[in-house]
Amino acid sequence: MYAEKVLSGMRPTGRLHLGHYHGVLKNWVQLQQEYPCLFFVADWHALTTHYEEPGRIVDDAWEMVIDWLAAGVDPSQATLFIQSRVAEHAELQLLLSMMTPLGWLERVPTYKDQQEKLSHKDLSTYGFLGYPLLQAADILIYRANRVPVGEDQVPHIEFTREIARRFNHLYGREVGFEEKAREAVKQLGKKRAKLYEELRTRYQERGEADALEQAHALLDEAQSLSHGDRERLFGYLEGSGKMILVEPDALLTASARMPGLDGQKMSKSYGNTIALREDPASVTRKIRTMQTDPQRVRRSDPGDPEKCPVWDFHAIYSSEPTRQWVREGCTSAGIGCLECKQPVIEAVLREQEPMHERAQLYLDDPHLVRNIVADGCDRARKLAQETMRDVREAMGLDYN
Ligand code: TRP
Ligand code: SF4
Repeated sequence: MYAEKVLSGMRPTGRLHLGHYHGVLKNWVQLQQEYPCLFFVADWHALTTHYEEPGRIVDDAWEMVIDWLAAGVDPSQATLFIQSRVAEHAELQLLLSMMTPLGWLERVPTYKDQQEKLSHKDLSTYGFLGYPLLQAADILIYRANRVPVGEDQVPHIEFTREIARRFNHLYGREVGFEEKAREAVKQLGKKRAKLYEELRTRYQERGEADALEQAHALLDEAQSLSHGDRERLFGYLEGSGKMILVEPDALLTASARMPGLDGQKMSKSYGNTIALREDPASVTRKIRTMQTDPQRVRRSDPGDPEKCPVWDFHAIYSSEPTRQWVREGCTSAGIGCLECKQPVIEAVLREQEPMHERAQLYLDDPHLVRNIVADGCDRARKLAQETMRDVREAMGLDYN
């Protein structure tokens, strides 16, 4: 019923690193070419855990957006915005909170996990408990059906689906739904109406999933339907009533895990990162001083790439012939570690060069980023307002 739409958010953490680039941003850059995409700074989410030290949010947000742009996120293709500048997210979270069982929030695994992990902070707050509901509002307000996230966020998407389902169940029932749906079937025209009825029967009586899929395709193609009738017919297929909010799917990124300088996963908390826009001298220094196979003390000691964090970088950055050269040279002590690191240094610098170039444009003129985000907020707000009209109406708050 609603076109494909991608949405994802990131908490403002300041400078991003190559782990974010390989794990997230490369994927966004790809997706923006395939779907309408919305990418936003989840600044309210930052406050759920950092409410005692809000100072850096704004600066971190701008730095992060520059990193997105540096990575190739293209504002002429994707909509970039800031959560708190589209206040409708908060209104939707409030309205959804009326029908959200407390137990659902308490059971989201990240709730207890994060409280334990961040035990130095007092996270027994209303805002922190509501974190997944705010995230659900972020997604549902754009009727986004695809949400690229990491593994850790999957429970939040699942929670969002449950909220959408509950909402549609509670508020998707309009007076006279059955009759209105049957009228809408007629609007399809004779042939399509017949096919629709057949598919509906096959799905409802025999649970044939492909019948449901075909019926969705049929409705997608039926240009003559009004927006309301289309929604009714989608709902009527599953017998549930109108579908007001869309259940999203997580788009799991099958990206290689980006290793850090020490062989652990690259992460700010391990202090093993290379920033996305790290200056070349510093990149060179960091890689040159990286730990290698601990067995390889002297140049003449043979090593084992499998025990060396540099090898993880070759796995990401080097061609097969280069990797072959490393395997042979390392195990025979034919090459030295600095020699081995050189192609990695060059590859990382090559990858970062266009990022530095793109970022420079925005660093030279800070208004550019402000304008991109202001435009994005306007576009996002328009979409959010459309959904809010339907939500208010469904919840009995239509004062027009
Ligand atoms: N919780 C997400 C994270 O920590 C950030 C986020 C907030 C988000 N709202 C979202 C991600 C909506 C996807 C969709 O990574
Ligand atoms: Fe690691 Fe390369 Fe040195 Fe072998 S030669 S230990 S792979 S840096």
